[in-house]
Amino acid sequence: MLETLTADTAAERILPITLVSKARFKEWLSAQPQRTRAWCESNHFGGETGGLCLVPGEDGRVARVLFAADESDPWTWASLPGRLPKGTYKIEDALDARDADWAAMGWALACYQFGKYKSRAGRDWPELVWPDSANRGHVTRLVRGIGLVRDLVNTPASDMGPEELSMAAQALAERHGGKVRSIVGDALLAENYPLIHAVGRASSRAPRLIDLRWGDEMAPRITIVGKGVCFDSGGLDIKTSGNMKLMKKDMGGAAHALGLAQMIMEAGLPIRLRVLIPAVENSVSGSAFRPMDVITSRKGLTVEIGNTDAEGRLVLADALAEADREKPKLLIDMATLTGAARTALGPDLPALFTPDDKLADKLAASAETVKDPLWRLPLWKPYRRLLDSKTADINNASDNPHAGAITAALFLQEFVSPATPWAHLDLFAWNASTRPGRPEGGEAMAIRALYHLISQKHPS
Ligand code: BES
Ligand code: MN
Ligand code: ZN
Repeated sequence: MLETLTADTAAERILPITLVSKARFKEWLSAQPQRTRAWCESNHFGGETGGLCLVPGEDGRVARVLFAADESDPWTWASLPGRLPKGTYKIEDALDARDADWAAMGWALACYQFGKYKSRAGRDWPELVWPDSANRGHVTRLVRGIGLVRDLVNTPASDMGPEELSMAAQALAERHGGKVRSIVGDALLAENYPLIHAVGRASSRAPRLIDLRWGDEMAPRITIVGKGVCFDSGGLDIKTSGNMKLMKKDMGGAAHALGLAQMIMEAGLPIRLRVLIPAVENSVSGSAFRPMDVITSRKGLTVEIGNTDAEGRLVLADALAEADREKPKLLIDMATLTGAARTALGPDLPALFTPDDKLADKLAASAETVKDPLWRLPLWKPYRRLLDSKTADINNASDNPHAGAITAALFLQEFVSPATPWAHLDLFAWNASTRPGRPEGGEAMAIRALYHLISQKHPS
């Protein structure tokens, strides 16, 4: 991806991209040589928003590119690499800092390919000269973080089990002087993580809690928790084949946590970071946990299992209880938690839950600023009764078909003390089809917004 962004001097032939717009196109065209006017006319190019026109020079080769960017859409720039022949391009017009960053980011993200399992080399993308006013370090961190999320999610579950996920955390920590501690298998029982153990114990790949720490111990504490269900078969309440198919992406929350952590570490933000990833495979075997089992959680609350497919909230509950113990200044969890959040908001709009109105407003503002959307849904207390259990303190699943994203969030809230500033993001982590800059497959959602929020509060 980033190799498609090049320094000014690198290429011998640089093709200019000229920005045009529908409103000023006629006027602009009238000042062009006859050849250009005739070319645009015969190609029916009138500067329509999003439109692109390759203009040949006298030798018949492409000499310049006309592009009518959609200024309201950060992804507008991402439509370019796929439509341009191999070569090196430079946006002629001066861009403001925001557009320059978007152009570079969109270009690089559009050139993402998951090539790990392809024998043949992928596409050879055109290159863009870094726009002058782009913040190269910032764009590089964003693109690398998003690339990490995509790679982790796209890797098949056969090569991305709990252990491989912990190796990814380990590699990240090592590059930045952080430390990872993993609690694996039966040690989870000894160290009191009964829910993580119960969900993961049926798999031949042992469950684990990955605990990454980085940064100055005296700096403000921020803890990020990510759902690391490396494959979600549903357990004994097994999913149908259609629902199971994409479930390699059920560690998407963990991938987001690592991607965001990487951005923070590479920027050297002055915070004390902790990343907690309960990493499990929700499998079927003789040792699987069962519907109507009762398990005492790390926090002490007893949990009745209404449905083994509501496993994400179980592993998160123990991780959140541990995160909460340290009273972080900010506690964020990210998870591919419910289908209901997707029914409510669709695939591209993560659901935000937090009892903290100020935090919600700040996150919404960040999301708007960097155009990385999310939408708040309520922690609607009256629905808590849908999780009442006849046997235990709480049931992990509601029998009611309604408000599934809310009841999942209310379940998590039981494990976080009211004093901790906490935000829960229920996200899809996947593009069902390819759009410019957003190829089909794993996708990072809301982490640019989170990074913006954190880096504004704690600038490096
Ligand atoms: N990983 C799924 C949620 C999911 C499914 C996210 C599809 C994105 C797309 C989660 O573990 C799950 O199975 N949730 C159940 C909960 C239900 C059993 C209470 C769901 O949403 O149906
Ligand atoms: Mn599930
Ligand atoms: Zn799941």
